[in-house]
Amino acid sequence: MSDAHPPLRSFGRLKSRPIKPRQAALVEARLPGLRIPPGPLAPRDLMPAAREVWLEIGFGGGEHMAAQASRAPDTLILGAEPFLNGVASAVRHIDEQGLTNVRLQDGDVRELIARLPDACLDRVFILFPDPWPKSRHHKRRLVQTDTVAELARLLKPGGRLRFASDVAHYVDWALEIIGADPAFTWTAARADDWRVPPADHITTRYEDKRLGDCAPVFLDFVRI
Ligand SMILES: C[S@@+](CC[C@H](N)C(=O)[O-])C[C@H]1O[C@@H](n2cnc3c(N)ncnc32)[C@H](O)[C@@H]1O
Repeated sequence: MSDAHPPLRSFGRLKSRPIKPRQAALVEARLPGLRIPPGPLAPRDLMPAAREVWLEIGFGGGEHMAAQASRAPDTLILGAEPFLNGVASAVRHIDEQGLTNVRLQDGDVRELIARLPDACLDRVFILFPDPWPKSRHHKRRLVQTDTVAELARLLKPGGRLRFASDVAHYVDWALEIIGADPAFTWTAARADDWRVPPADHITTRYEDKRLGDCAPVFLDFVRI
């Protein structure tokens, strides 16, 4: 990411309702220790015993991230989310579940991506990203050729990228853009592979709202 030309904002609100005093106190106490440190980063330094490193982009309220972290305690999960209420909610889940394998970027994932080394990730999740439905806003979508190329750089060979959306145009967009990157291959062999939630999927808060124009679609790609 160039400092001279920061990317367009791909997210909407940074804050909605006020954060309650108890939650604000928890964030103040816990976020500094959970935050991914600035500068160049070797994720394994954050958890040397980690067997795998996963990245969740735009974790929203953090329910999926926390549930995955709880299921895979030997995996380090990096989560990025600029929406402050979402970060506060994630901190609460991490605290309540006593998770020690989650670290947070409370900001744009592209700043984190830029300082991660090649082939450091085993999995990436992009679940129900902001749809930016108007044509003039499509350039704000998180899935863009350059971001996908960066994810290809970060994923190990055999690593996996999951994209999910309930917006038909965004599904087509993701298939076209990720499909055009020779580093990725789409794993689906039959319709149920994209229209049935994968066995390891955890329903997200946004997904539950059913705000899109189609049933949720799950696209799993492998980094060749
Ligand atoms: C529609 S919400 C879905 C949240 C969550 N994945 C879910 O399914 O409940 C999309 C989220 O992506 C976040 N987001 C958008 N652009 C982002 C970026 N550049 N880096 C990190 N998160 C981003 C937004 O702030 C928002 O919370």
